[in-house]
Order: sequence, then structure tokens, then C-alpha cells
Amino acid sequence: MTFTRRYLMCRPTHFAVTYRINPWMDPTAPYDNALAVSQWENLRRVFVDLGHTVDEIEPLPGLPDMVFAANGATVVDGRVLGVQFRDAERADEAPAYASWFRERGFEVHDPKHTNEGEGDILLAGDVLLAGTGFRTSHAAHAETQEILERPVITLQLVDPAYYHLDTALCVLDETNVAYLPAAFSPGSQSVLRRLFPNAIIATPEDAAVLGLNAVSDGRTVVLPEQAVTLAADLRRAGYKPVGVDLSELRKAGGGPKCCTLEVRS
Ligand code: ARG
Repeated sequence: MTFTRRYLMCRPTHFAVTYRINPWMDPTAPYDNALAVSQWENLRRVFVDLGHTVDEIEPLPGLPDMVFAANGATVVDGRVLGVQFRDAERADEAPAYASWFRERGFEVHDPKHTNEGEGDILLAGDVLLAGTGFRTSHAAHAETQEILERPVITLQLVDPAYYHLDTALCVLDETNVAYLPAAFSPGSQSVLRRLFPNAIIATPEDAAVLGLNAVSDGRTVVLPEQAVTLAADLRRAGYKPVGVDLSELRKAGGGPKCCTLEVRS
């Protein structure tokens, strides 16, 4: 078993909160771009220190959310499913990410339905967990299964604060996850209980600092340092939590996982 991963990230050079497409975003509130950059650089350094490979995509002016690389694609077995954003403000990120992959020889499928990449589509062992309700459409789940050839399990998100699956659930390793039950419909909660009977259940407080927006390599879990109960629960379960502060990017509704797209060859 190997714990080294390949990640794609996008420096928040042009990060800003200029529109509101989720409840975390307040375009009238102050934010600090320089602090966002240094917090992001720290996250990048943590990954490199863990032995991961980090590639970078050139940030484009006028796309303040492009830092959230998880939304740029879903990559499984070297195959890339491109994205189609719900909101016009982010639309131009889709071709930028698709080009990055095409230029490096990846086969990229342009989607017919709205899907926001690894924000809503997460590989858990052999299956893909797929969120819907706010961004990624239900029709995109069938498309994802067809293109990526993995069973797709639909999970219904119900709380607008947890608008992407990766804000409500973190894949820890091949067989386990951490999640916030209240972010899911009753039926989806039952599905999660059946699939992951030993899951770590997050507290509302930890979810509210985007604690579940974490990046696990199967052993080390990089999560917002404010999520203290989750970190303790992870340690008790045998994982190694590493806290990072991404408070500036949280003003746009993003955390460590949002900044990180896994490139699985
Ligand atoms: N402001 C961005 C949006 O609402 C945040 C995206 C966060 N990304 C994620 N993978 N959850 O689209």
C-alpha cells in the first residue's frame, strides 16, 4: 500500500469574494488576499513534506474561485471527467482545467450535465460517492458512472451550508469515511450507515469550520486546525491528523480538500 499521492492545486493569486454562490460568501466582508496566499502555501508545503507530488495550474484573472481545484475535474484510472459549473461566475474554469489535462496527454470527457468535480464526486475504495441537491445534477451521476466505469452511489445533500459533498463527508481510506449526518436526507443517512458502519461522525461544530473538507492519503488527514474534536476522533481511530489554517479561503466556503484535486493515474 502506498500513501503518496499526486495533487493538482491552483495558487490563490486572484482569490477574492466578489459574488455569493454559497452561504459562506459575503462580498461585503473584508478578506486578505496575501493571507490567503500564505495559508495556501502552507497547505502546499504540508503535502510536499508528506511526500506527495503537487502540480500547479496557472491561476487566471477574473476567476477568484479557481483556487478550488477540487472542482476542476474528477480523475480515476487516468481518465478525466471534465466539469460544468452551475454558476456562470465559475464557467470559464472548466475549459482551463480540461486544457491542463489534455496538454499532459490525459483523455478528457466533456460532460453534458452539471457536475463540479471532486467537490461532489469522491472515490471511496471501488465506488464513487456522488452528492446532489445543490450543484452536481442527478443526471450527472449516471454520466459519471458511464465515463469513469465505477459504481456511483447518489447521496442527497439537504443543508445549503454543505452545498458540496466534500464539505459534508471526507473519505479517509478505502473502507471508511467521516461525515455529518444532518447534511444528508434521511434515506442517504441510511445508505451511509449501511456502507460505513464504523464511520467517524462529525460534530456540527467541526463541520461548521469545514472540518470535513479534509484530505486523507489513507493515513495522514490534513484538516482545518479549528476542527479539534474531529482531529481527536481521527487520532483515536488510528489516523494522523494534521491541522492547517485556511481561514481566508473559508470566507468563500472552501477548505483543504476544495484546494486539492487528486490526479489518479
Ligand atoms: N466559492 C466556491 C463555490 O461556491 C467554493 C468551492 C469550494 N469547493 C469545494 N470543493 N467544496 O463554488
